[in-house]
Amino acid sequence: MRKKLNHKIFRIISEVADEMELETYVIGGFVRDVLLKRPSKDIDIVTVGSGIELARNVSKKLRPSPRVSVFKNFGTAMLKYKDLEVEFVGARKESYKRDSRKPIVEDGTLEDDQNRRDFTINAMALQLNKVNFGKLIDPFHGLDDLDDLIIRTPLDPDITFSDDPLRIMRAIRFSTQLGFDIEAATYDSIVKNRERIRIISAERIIDELNKIMMAEKPSIGFKLLEETGLLAIIFPELQQLKGVERVNGIGHKDNFYHTLEVLDRIVPNTNNLWLRWAALLHDIAKPATKKFIPGQGWTFHAHNFIGVKMIPKIFRRMKLPLNEKMKYVQKMVQLHMRPIVLSEDVVTDSAVRRLLFEAADDIDDLMTLCEADITSKNSEKVKRYMKNFKMVRQKLKEIEEKDAIRNFQPPVDGELIMKTFNMKPCREVGLIKDAIKDAILDGEIHNDYNEAYEYMLKKAAELGLEKPA
Ligand code: CTP
Repeated sequence: MRKKLNHKIFRIISEVADEMELETYVIGGFVRDVLLKRPSKDIDIVTVGSGIELARNVSKKLRPSPRVSVFKNFGTAMLKYKDLEVEFVGARKESYKRDSRKPIVEDGTLEDDQNRRDFTINAMALQLNKVNFGKLIDPFHGLDDLDDLIIRTPLDPDITFSDDPLRIMRAIRFSTQLGFDIEAATYDSIVKNRERIRIISAERIIDELNKIMMAEKPSIGFKLLEETGLLAIIFPELQQLKGVERVNGIGHKDNFYHTLEVLDRIVPNTNNLWLRWAALLHDIAKPATKKFIPGQGWTFHAHNFIGVKMIPKIFRRMKLPLNEKMKYVQKMVQLHMRPIVLSEDVVTDSAVRRLLFEAADDIDDLMTLCEADITSKNSEKVKRYMKNFKMVRQKLKEIEEKDAIRNFQPPVDGELIMKTFNMKPCREVGLIKDAIKDAILDGEIHNDYNEAYEYMLKKAAELGLEKPA
């Protein structure tokens, strides 16, 4: 294990710990990640003694000496060294909760500290003192669980989860990120204790959910959330998507599994968390808009528009940002059917111009979402859609090169209309402005000042307006 600790920082901590005669270890996520060969920049150091004193002395040995941030109430200290963030803490007897508001009360041994951690794979420690440098201390066989790809609590899971119920979410998050199975007793305890998640703040829950969203296969996490009954508690709108209703033997697709397929399909094409959220929410209003129409079958009329309206409530409750990021998700949800509708028909320049005008710089993201949305099992159908999308993309490129519609502002604006006809803001100004925009988008005139000016005069004349001499 010594080889795993070849960074200079470990040698320095080792020296300082020996000088201070403090038993000291690197513990938790860093050890897990090193063993899994995952990159990790967060280092947690546990010492049987004062973590704050150790941090101060380590800082003195480093050049340049980094600032030590001390959190007295928690008995922790943190310093940054190169691209690493190193946190120091004294071993403790009670539960390890980095963001708990309760101050720590009782010092303990390394064993006490390991006992109160969340999972066996997160409870391993590597000793830093010279005599045993690199020795693995693994009382719960975390190494075996790493090999066997298993998430398991070190103690009785009911105890570990009641210490901090967020761990219920963490189990599912690690299972998703690492592709590990949750061991049976741990899983049963999640189901048994799921209601306890209600005492956890929305901020901590969304942190975990976003980590699930950013995993390689987020559907693993959402399926687990659903199966354990957590989804109904933390995200009822998504739970509602599950299930198939039948009338006269005709069923619709299960929109929960469809949504998860879209989410997984978009992953390789984007690291943008908000595009992934758009994938998760694109059909969120299907249950609210579902209708069976005899002769026609199941319809979800205007589910995109109703979806847009549902988003602020979801974002507010989940403590997601209510700013331009939410607006972007709303825009994606609103427009998510447009490229399909467009490609089913003759792809006219004017329809492409309108789409480009509405989506603007987010047009590529929209196309990525739409392509992920094609989850049909019918391979002929998929082929046809993909071919049509290729055509739409090509056409988008041509129109953009020709007409520069993305971020376009009509060359004649309201100010100029008012000045020309010596008017105050009124209905006619809006009418003329919209007419010019429509004429450009429909290809009647070019995106050009002179043509737009002429068009303004023509429209004004139709409305009975005259240009003052
Ligand atoms: N920990 C815990 N219970 C929690 C949170 C954290 O026992 N609710 C312990 C675990 O031993 C964990 C360590 O604190 O490994 C560090 O926590 P954190 O930085 O939140 O997680 P990591 O395991 O490092 O993983 P990640 O960085 O992916 O969140």
